[in-house]
Amino acid sequence: MDNELILVIDFGGQYNQLIARRVREHNIYCEVISYKTPVEEIKGRNPKGIIFTGGPNSVYLDSSPRMSREILEIGVPVLGICYGAQFLTYALDGEIGSAEDNSLSEFGRTECEVNTSHPLFEGINEKTVVWMSHNDYIKKAPEGFAAIASTAKCPFAALVNDEKKLYGVQFHPEVNHTQQGFEILGNFLYNICHCKGDWTMANYAKTAIAQIREKVGSGKVLLALSGGVDSSVACALLSKAVGDQLTCVFVDHGFMRKNEGDEVEAAFKDWNVNFVRVDASDRFIGKLEGVSDPETKRKTIGEEFIRVFEEEAKKIGKVDYLVQGTIYPDVIESGLGDAAVIKSHHNVGGLPDCVDFKEIIEPLRLLFKDEVRKLGTELGLADYLVWRQPFPGPGLAIRIIGEITREKLKILQDADCIFREEIAKAGLDRSINQYFAVLTNMRSVGVMGDDRTYDYTLALRGVTTTDFMTADFARIPYEVLEAASVRIVNEVKNINRIVYDVTSKPPATIEWE
Ligand code: XMP
Repeated sequence: MDNELILVIDFGGQYNQLIARRVREHNIYCEVISYKTPVEEIKGRNPKGIIFTGGPNSVYLDSSPRMSREILEIGVPVLGICYGAQFLTYALDGEIGSAEDNSLSEFGRTECEVNTSHPLFEGINEKTVVWMSHNDYIKKAPEGFAAIASTAKCPFAALVNDEKKLYGVQFHPEVNHTQQGFEILGNFLYNICHCKGDWTMANYAKTAIAQIREKVGSGKVLLALSGGVDSSVACALLSKAVGDQLTCVFVDHGFMRKNEGDEVEAAFKDWNVNFVRVDASDRFIGKLEGVSDPETKRKTIGEEFIRVFEEEAKKIGKVDYLVQGTIYPDVIESGLGDAAVIKSHHNVGGLPDCVDFKEIIEPLRLLFKDEVRKLGTELGLADYLVWRQPFPGPGLAIRIIGEITREKLKILQDADCIFREEIAKAGLDRSINQYFAVLTNMRSVGVMGDDRTYDYTLALRGVTTTDFMTADFARIPYEVLEAASVRIVNEVKNINRIVYDVTSKPPATIEWE
């Protein structure tokens, strides 16, 4: 790919992905790389600009990440953010005030005065609100630097050396709480790095299709299609690139949402691909008989999935390429340290061991989720596939608490469908990032007509989130909850009570199992 490149150098800040996304939103391609990357390698990539992320508290700690100051001497514009700005100061012999005297630390929204005649602040209000989150502070700028923004406590809210093209901001322009942060980043990219903005999904599609064609030649390609956004977009892209050399295997484990299997099949009917739908629901339900432990459910489904896929792949014969729907956040996250396993995730992508193939193709590896959606639209995928909310690999099996039976599955499919219909009717389907129903294993007493009932309690869950690693419960209006509740209790047998989950993540998780 010959796009203009911005490199985001990760100093361990929690917003590294967010910075990269903001740059991409400005139509400029960027990658997040480790601060351990050799300067020569960075130079070799010929970036138009470099951004240092935030990071741990103090540049003076031995454990703090540092780079050779050569990175500041290669003539490429550098913007240091928070820790990044402090590191830049430190590396050039300026002075950082210690966290111990934390009367000068700033957290949260802070009014900032900026010098609007500087290109970094072109079009920005003279007084603007920025998001601060620092203990240490820049006490003395390195030689040749000047302050171009300040707050009541922080004389160097932004500092520059125009001659050397080095810039630092103590605040976080990437977060929404910084009122004009997007514009400030844009100024760095366009006014200072002189980018043109050549990263669009239309361009990406064209280049990716050409590259895939060249790689695959006349080879055979296999893709595990789940019906989720990523595998659907990957399928659309591969189909445009190699047409009927592609076989998509859609393993229907029976835990899909109501009508979902048929919808996925219908969506790809007119695409020029070999589409194989495997109805394996009996196998899966059989395997899960008597299983109520969440982790056992997940592992059993994951293993069985691989077995079914393997059998289908054998029928197709030797394939040359296997497609995986890996997206950029997975790439960034897998490069970071080991996190505790909270749940064993099952992804249809994780299949390489079981199929005989030459190479893996990951056509979405460079893209963020919002870019994957844009690409899907660009390729002509139906809106309901492009805007589908995330759905876990094990499907409704992990939304039925306790043992799974066909009856419970039907109850949940019907109830979940009504809830989704009501959310869509209220126009909330794009603003709530994930919403679904969970069939609890609890029954309680109710009254219907003149009769006593003793039926299941259904839980509704809705969350707002950007990264799905943390989430808040969605403030769904009472009227919408009421409409869903009334319909579910009336239309779905065996449910007589509905509750709404009002926990955020953490401490809860989004799914219940
Ligand atoms: P949790 O429940 O861990 O979920 O807060 C975070 C997000 O991940 C989705 N999820 C999965 N996605 N395979 C997937 O592809 C899985 O096994 C899986 N389990 C959870 C979940 O729906 C939420 O969006």
